[in-house]
Parts: sequence; C-alpha cells; structure tokens
Amino acid sequence: MPKIVSIHSYRGGTGKSNSTSNIAAIVASRGNRVCIVDTDIQSPGVHVLFGYDESSLERSLNDYLWGRLPIEETAYDVSSVLQGKGTSRSAIYLVPSSVKASDIARILREGYDVNLLNDGFQDLIDKLDLDYLFIDTHPGLNEETLLSITISDVLLLVLRPDQQDYQGTAVTVDVARKLEVPELFMIVNKAPTIFDFNQLKEKVEDIYSAQVAGVLPHSDEMMILASSGVYALRYPDHEFTKVFEAIADRVMS
Ligand SMILES: Nc1ncnc2c1ncn2[C@@H]1O[C@H](COP(=O)(O)OP(=O)(O)O)[C@@H](O)[C@H]1O
Ligand SMILES: [Mg+2]
Repeated sequence: MPKIVSIHSYRGGTGKSNSTSNIAAIVASRGNRVCIVDTDIQSPGVHVLFGYDESSLERSLNDYLWGRLPIEETAYDVSSVLQGKGTSRSAIYLVPSSVKASDIARILREGYDVNLLNDGFQDLIDKLDLDYLFIDTHPGLNEETLLSITISDVLLLVLRPDQQDYQGTAVTVDVARKLEVPELFMIVNKAPTIFDFNQLKEKVEDIYSAQVAGVLPHSDEMMILASSGVYALRYPDHEFTKVFEAIADRVMS
C-alpha cells in the first residue's frame, strides 16, 4: 500500500522543505518510488533543493490545477540526486509549484478547487507507481493543509524550540488528532547545540503526548548549504543524516 506523508509546521521557516527533501531522498534510496509535491503554492521552495529556479521550471502543479496538464506530466524526475544509490526500483520525482509572480498572484486572487489536489495525489500514485507521496505544505492551517492532514498516513510536524512554535503546534496536534491521522511524529529542528537533546525530546513528547522522531541541531553548515542541495545524500556520515535516516525509518515502518 502506498503511503502519503505530509510535512507540516504551524509557522514558516521551520525546515519543512529541507526535511521533506532529505527524508524523501533517503526513503527513495532504500528502493522506493517517491514523489514530493510542493503544495506551498503561495511561497514555493522545495524545488530549490533540487537545483531548479524560476527560469528552469517549465511546468508546475499550477498547470494541473488550471486544467492545462495531467498532474503526472508536471512531475520532474530528480532521481539524479540519488547519485546511483538504491535499487533498480529507486526513483524520486518532484511536482514543483510555480514561482512566477503572476501565477502566485492568480492563485491568491482566484483560489482553486482543493478537491483537485486529492484527485491529483491519487493520479500521481497510480501513474508514477509510487510507494510514497510526500506533501510539503504551506505553514499554518488552511484548506489545503487540512486536506493533506486528512489524507495522510503519516504526519510529520516540524517545530523549533520557540514559544510561538510550541503554542501554534498544539493547535495543529489537536486538529490532527480530531482528523484521526494514523501516525503523528514530531521533528524538532534548529535546536541550539547547547541544549540537552534528550531532555528537549522528552519535553516535546510530554507537551504533545506524541513521539519525537528526531531532534536536529541549529547548524551553520545548513545555513551555508542554504537550500542548495539535499544534505543527506551529500554527507552520508554527518550527524544530520543519521537523524534524517532515523525519521525515514519511522516513516517506512
Ligand atoms: N537545522 C537547521 N539549521 C540551520 N538552518 C536551517 C536548519 N534547517 C533549515 N534551515 C534553514 O532555514 C531556512 C528555512 O528552511 P526551509 O526548509 O525552507 O523551511 P520551511 O519549508 O519550513 O519554510 C532555510 O534557509 C534553511 O537552509
Ligand atoms: Mg518550504
């Protein structure tokens, strides 16, 4: 059975897109066919980690939402990031969201039929023969994030150890429980390295009565990498990679 995995956070800039791309790439490298969909239509970003920019993105989720293309034709095969790792089945695709100002303005002005997203996800799973569909979401709660939470088998909630994140995340956890998401895991990102990570993990597990799948440090290296690549595959022995691998194991179990 293919699994749908949503990565969400209450606030922006918490590390959703970086986490999504790293976890998805690890899952693909373990012999799976994987696709990431950028549903952060108002502020897309995950394409950057796969080396795309405005000039190189010719098709996007927007083309599907506006009835121009079947969704599977908007997907880019980005399996080259796997650098040959994995099995003959391993593959990773990306459905980016448009970064053209006029397209973002149109979505904000006209909105779109959120139900199309649900149909699109199912089409992607069928047409690309996926094992995992990862949904990189827009922060906060809105119609499309509620939809993605509703249809997810696994929800990964990213938060920073910050009071604003703590409070907002409580709301999201509540909503996820009401929507009966089968599996919910927390990811703590940008933890100051002077913190005791075990204590932080216990604190977050205590607050939300949910398991923490990983605690990632705030890292200068990550800032220097500045979303220019998928970390876990470039630095397989790094501590970050070990955390992402542990999260990937949870997603796959
Ligand atoms: N653990 C980390 N340490 C330092 N910088 C990070 C870390 N995780 C993410 N970042 C940086 O934070 C910014 C936001 O990350 P991103 O994954 O785009 O978040 P989101 O998708 O939630 O908005 C990016 O510049 C990214 O490089
Ligand atoms: Mg993002």
